[in-house]
Amino acid sequence: MRISNTQTLGEIAGAFPAAVRILEDRGLDFCCGGKLALGDACRQRGLDPAAVAGEIESASEGPSGTRDWRAATLTELAHHIVDRHHRFLETELPRLSARLDKVRSAHGARDGEVLEQIAKVFDALRDELELHTRKEEMVLFPWIERMEEARAQHRSGAPAPFGTVANPIHCMEGEHESAGAALAELRRITSGYTPPAHACATYRALYAGLEELERDLHLHIHLENNILFPGAMRLE
Ligand SMILES: [Fe+2]
Ligand SMILES: [Fe+2]
Repeated sequence: MRISNTQTLGEIAGAFPAAVRILEDRGLDFCCGGKLALGDACRQRGLDPAAVAGEIESASEGPSGTRDWRAATLTELAHHIVDRHHRFLETELPRLSARLDKVRSAHGARDGEVLEQIAKVFDALRDELELHTRKEEMVLFPWIERMEEARAQHRSGAPAPFGTVANPIHCMEGEHESAGAALAELRRITSGYTPPAHACATYRALYAGLEELERDLHLHIHLENNILFPGAMRLE
């Protein structure tokens, strides 16, 4: 789907979940200023509308789905996971927290119960993911890279400080399961990320952002559970 200059920011934010983040980054207000056309809004801020549209279109094509990661080295895949999926969490989780706070203060009186439930599950998921990605980046991924480097140089690597690489992998897999359960719970609480009819643009952006988080996290966990981790176990 192509974006035209005459489409409004509100329409674009609704049709392309990835657009919300890009518009926010450019200071293009899709919420209160959502009725402005992309071309006009970009002109006001001295931006090139074609560049903004192009960025949204390519972000919406779906993340790393295009490459066959089975053919890559484990080191390349680990770097890709960190650059793409861990950095995504690093920017998205605080943004979603801020959106959730905003929606709770505006709609707490009417939708308090649902928003409380979302906040409870989301806050626990955020804490767990922040710790989880740190463990992968500081312990497991560097170890996998070292094993691959040792093999490329035809030498046997040093013994793992944690016994076998299967130990941290099982720990990470357990945490993936818990994250998957939290996502399923969020989907249930939000009725499949369907905002109520009275939801404002930020409310809608919160649901769209949570759904994008789910999509990205599913792909992220798939790359680790099904490609990176089995590859590391074979290598050992
Ligand atoms: Fe990860
Ligand atoms: Fe992970």
